[in-house]
Formats: sequence, structure tokens, C-alpha cells
Amino acid sequence: MSVKTPISDFIDEITKKDVVRLFMPGHKGVEITGPEKYDITEIHGADSLYSADGIIAESEKICSGIFGSKKTIYSTEGSSQCIKAMIYLLKYFKQSEKIHILAARNVHKSFLYACALSDCEVDWIASDELNSSVCSCRIRPETVEEKLRNKKYDAVYLTSPDYLGNISDIESVSDICHRYGALLLVDNAHGAYLHFLPEKMHPLDLGADMCCDSAHKTLPVLTSGAYLHLSARIPDYVAEKAKDAMEMFGSTSPSYLVLKSLDVCNKYLDEKIRDDLRKTIEQITKAKQTISDNGWKVCESEPLKIVIQSPKSRTGYEIADMMRRNGIECEFCDKDFVTCMVSTFSSEKDIRCLVKALGKNNEKETRTLPKVCVCETKMSIREALFSTSENISVDDSLGRICSDVKVSCPPAVPIVMPGETVNEDAVELLKYYGISGIDAVKNRN
Ligand SMILES: Cc1ncc(COP(=O)(O)O)c(C=O)c1O
Repeated sequence: MSVKTPISDFIDEITKKDVVRLFMPGHKGVEITGPEKYDITEIHGADSLYSADGIIAESEKICSGIFGSKKTIYSTEGSSQCIKAMIYLLKYFKQSEKIHILAARNVHKSFLYACALSDCEVDWIASDELNSSVCSCRIRPETVEEKLRNKKYDAVYLTSPDYLGNISDIESVSDICHRYGALLLVDNAHGAYLHFLPEKMHPLDLGADMCCDSAHKTLPVLTSGAYLHLSARIPDYVAEKAKDAMEMFGSTSPSYLVLKSLDVCNKYLDEKIRDDLRKTIEQITKAKQTISDNGWKVCESEPLKIVIQSPKSRTGYEIADMMRRNGIECEFCDKDFVTCMVSTFSSEKDIRCLVKALGKNNEKETRTLPKVCVCETKMSIREALFSTSENISVDDSLGRICSDVKVSCPPAVPIVMPGETVNEDAVELLKYYGISGIDAVKNRN
């Protein structure tokens, strides 16, 4: 039986009836940029996202069934909102004042805001590799186990996939977490589509307790549409609080355009995505092979990303510029990498364009990646983020305590965390990534 789209049907009905709009928003459905007629608010029958018992509740239930979760909640404010809610929910789960989290270091900045707002203590797991991109944090499950053996943590937090398409061994880490009584939370912002691959790859299917998916990043959903998924291991008393947690970090005016988009996407996920993924991934795999045959270093990555490591004499920025001159815009580039994100809505022509624009590369050698930095923690993330701060030059930052997470977005992965003392490795790393100033806690004197 075909999946229902109750939110979309309701909005379409309102549009068809051409009702007199004496409600918000102020555009009154007049097409100014295009989609205004579908943009409504919580009118009679439209349900209410954070206390849903009508069409939104029905649509979320359908979505939860598709992902096989205990509960899935829609976010109209991205994974950023879901991450804050996940961290807040830990307080409920553990019923304790102070929450201790063990996190792989390549977190998105929203995790740091979440920890500051819910006042959590974080210990970091640095990459097992000595030299690595700041976007990645490859860690062996044994490293996680060693940390959990030595200290009690309420949760382990991983970012998987990361901006370069690396995937963590969620299955092994979740086994370890559960043996040591910790929850596993996963920032799966880049991996909503993973549930629809033939092999188990989505964090929920591999033992994660909670995860967020930015539906908008890899599925046909409007920007900022996302899911918070809770697994069957989350007890009812926590699941019942999840909506309140999302509300705490969200606007009281969630976008119905985004809700409609999430609702309609359920139909696509139920009926078509598996087949489309098979075809798209076949095309991507062939393209990766051709790009590699043409002399480029194509990094191993999750199926929908094409990640190229730049050769020694060129930067990722220069390669992205070359692509731009050929009418292609990538998702992300830095000195060493270019990340291209493909989806089932990319055409075969799009992928061919990329292969053609890249052409041949005759230089095999790549730069040695920068040294990972591990700085000493001097104050909590909350204390640092809420402190009085000043912007200082990186040249003057040695020994100062970082107070912010200002990094360009993407990838929004901080190099030095709020509360950490900048050391020599950090100065070098900040300079490597072209960062010239940081916010530091103002010295009291
Ligand atoms: C790894 C990661 N996590 C979380 C986020 C935040 O997601 P959103 O933009 O959906 O709020 C991003 C955004 O780029 C991200 O790359």
C-alpha cells in the first residue's frame, strides 16, 4: 500500500480551497519568490510540531516505520537542533546533574553549543592517526574501549560519516558502549540515505541509541529538514521528553514548507530510493574509477561522496576553482581535499561533467597531512563559551584559552575547543588552515 502524505495533502487542500488567509505569514500565499502558497502556520487542522497529535504525528510515525526507529521526530532547523536535543536528553536518561561524554574530536560546532547549553563535560578521543585532516578522526574501537575502561562516561559521541566521507565502525563501538553502560550517539548528518543501501550502514541499524540525520544533505528535502531518531533501547520516559527537548532549541514557528518536504520524502523513501541509489552508486563507482585512472587520488568514502586529495603542487582550493570555471560547484574544499556530494537526484551528465572537468593529473605525490593537535583543557566548554573574550591574532595565541568555535562553515569543525589552552601544535594547525585570529578568554588582571 502506498505511503500517505498527510501534511502535504492538508497544505494542498488549503491551497486548492483558496481560503482567505487571516493568519500568518504576512505574504498571504502571494507568490513572491515561488513557494509562498504552501507556506502556512499552525492553523486549525495543521497540527503543531512540538505537541503533535494530528497530521504531523501521523507523518512522523510513517517516517519512524521507514527507518525502523522507536521514534523519529522532524526537525525544521537541521541536525543542529537535533544534536542539542540529543545532548539535553542525556540528562533525562541519566537523571544526573553532570553528564560526561567521550567524543571523537571532529565534532560539528553545534555539539559544542549543545554541551555548553546543557553543561556537559567532554573528554576527547584524538585520531589514531598522527597526521590527519581536521575533518576526520579515525579511531579504533579498542581506543574507545580503553577510555571507557578507565573512566565512567554517560555517552560516546561520534561523527559518522564525516565531511570526507569516512565512516566509523559503529557496530563495534556500540557493542563496547553497551557493555560499559554508555549510550552511543551519532551525528549522522551526512548519512540519512545509508538506511536504504543493501548492507547495514545507518547508525540505527548498527546499534546507535540516538542519531540525527540531515535529511536535506542527501535526500530530496528542503534545506534544514532533518530527523532525530531514537532506537528501541531508549526508554519510554526519555522518548516522551524528546519533543520537549526539540522545542527547547527550536523556533515556535517551524516551517511548513520544510515539513511538507519531509512528508513527501517519505513516499520517495518507501517506493523509490533503493532502486535510484543502486543506479546512482553504480555511476559514481565508475566515475571514481575513471578519475583514479586519470591520475587523481580518490579517497575511500561513503558511496555518495567523491573525495579527491589534492596533489602536492596544487591546493584543493585551486582544484575547486578549476571545477568552477567548468560550471561545477563542489560542497567543500580545503588545502588538501575536495568533497563532491552526489545524490539520487544528480544526473548522469552531472557526474560526467565532473570527470571531464578534472581531466588528467600527472602528479602522484600528495602533501603530508598536518599533525593532529591535542590541547590541555583548562575550563569547561560552557565556562569558556560564556566568558568575556577578545579576538587575538593566532601569532599571539600560544598559552591562551580558546573561547569560541569560530571556524568557517563547512566544515565547522573547530581546531581548538573552547576551554582548551592553545599549544604549539595548535598554532601550527590554525596557520595550516589559514586561520589568522581566534577568540580567547580575556585575561583577568
Ligand atoms: C557533520 C555535521 N554535523 C552537523 C551538521 C549540522 O547540520 P544542519 O546543517 O542540518 O543543522 C553539519 C552541517 O554541515 C555537519 O556537517
